[in-house]
Amino acid sequence: MTVVTHSESETGELGARLAACCTAGTVVAFFGGLGMGKTAFVRGMASVLSPDAHVSSPTFALVNNYGGKPPLVHFDMYRVTGWEDLDTTGYYDYQDQGAILAVEWSENIETALPPDAVRVTFCRLSETEREITIEGATL
Ligand SMILES: Nc1ncnc2c1ncn2[C@@H]1O[C@H](COP(=O)(O)OP(=O)(O)OP(=O)(O)O)[C@@H](O)[C@H]1O
Ligand SMILES: [Mg+2]
Repeated sequence: MTVVTHSESETGELGARLAACCTAGTVVAFFGGLGMGKTAFVRGMASVLSPDAHVSSPTFALVNNYGGKPPLVHFDMYRVTGWEDLDTTGYYDYQDQGAILAVEWSENIETALPPDAVRVTFCRLSETEREITIEGATL
């Protein structure tokens, strides 16, 4: 499906809707450049999966674990360039543990994405409009 959102909060609402479809082991892979609204989308997911969590971009830590049942784990792969980097983030361990993974900058780990990953692609239409395409999940 493809939708156009007109604000950060609308993008968050879409994230909340997708979160309702996630189960243990779901990998949500985000594509799209800087400042598209990926983190805003994850904030919406967390409002459902881990309501008390404070969501911020894991720019330096590379990974934030927000807890929940199953836990929501948020990755920023912007600086991840190789398999070793990826392994260090716990990407595979969290999948083995049945966490729900939200992965910003999935472009950088394309070959490590599971075939059934939910793919969320952002396209900037204007200052406040984002076209968001969700593949691999039915909302
Ligand atoms: N429709 C929209 N949806 C989401 N964010 C929007 C929208 N319109 C404007 N914005 C603005 O775009 C910015 C999105 O920031 P956000 O941190 O969520 O992006 P990001 O894709 O995670 O960026 P980065 O690549 O730096 O991690 C915010 O400043 C937000 O207010
Ligand atoms: Mg971000």
